[in-house]
Amino acid sequence: MPFIEHVSDADLERVALVRVVPSLLTHGFCCVDGLLGELTGGIVLEQVKDMHCSGMLQDGRLAGSVPGVHRKSIRGDKIAWVSGTERGCEAISFLLDLIDRLVSVCASRLGTKAIRERSKAMVACYPGNGAGYVKHVDNPNGDGRCITCIYYLNKNWNPTEHGGILRIFPEGKPYVADIKPLFDRLLLFWSDRRNPHEVQPSYATRYAITVWYFDSEERAEAKRRFKNLTASNQSGSSS
Ligand code: OGA
Ligand code: OGA
Ligand code: MN
Repeated sequence: MPFIEHVSDADLERVALVRVVPSLLTHGFCCVDGLLGELTGGIVLEQVKDMHCSGMLQDGRLAGSVPGVHRKSIRGDKIAWVSGTERGCEAISFLLDLIDRLVSVCASRLGTKAIRERSKAMVACYPGNGAGYVKHVDNPNGDGRCITCIYYLNKNWNPTEHGGILRIFPEGKPYVADIKPLFDRLLLFWSDRRNPHEVQPSYATRYAITVWYFDSEERAEAKRRFKNLTASNQSGSSS
């Protein structure tokens, strides 16, 4: 697309090696500001707003239901899953390519993990009615998700007025990290129990796009476990 500027491998590599890898290894999370720039970031925002306005965003689901507990009291976002090839998602696709390139440069420097695939992108909107997402871990039980990447899209966000802070409670640390959901900011963090986090109540429309990268080995193992579980249920086995 002509309106989008190519980001060179050299620039990505610099960000990966100087910022993302050291920060992930030291703190377990990392923020990169100004990822796409004003123009391209603005087009991504327009595409997300169009999805929202056309009714494509639906209530986010919970992994398991808790009797007597209202979904919205746990998680109040509206979401859609996109691959990027959908019409009207061209700038989102450009963003996903860029995050893929960034993570792939980082991957070989993050230890032994093989990171070769990711989830679809979750486009999410907290509608600004005070909804948030209670403290949780994205991948508490080895489902294969290894790195969570969240790209924020909110111009002129004022936490005092609008809330919507992402608070990370790094495991075993005496501090929390408060991340503002600022326009053109990419946040990366380990998806496992090292990073419990919450989205504080949001009082303005809050947009973000999230992808999860998989550790191939953990993902394959999780799929095997799931298959065995389904097989034993079908055969009526109680073991
Ligand atoms: C998550 C997740 C699934 C869904 O937020 O970690 O996997 O359907 N959500 O919203
Ligand atoms: C999630 C989540 C954080 C955010 O969807 O799992 O924690 O800042 N989102 O939107
Ligand atoms: Mn989460």
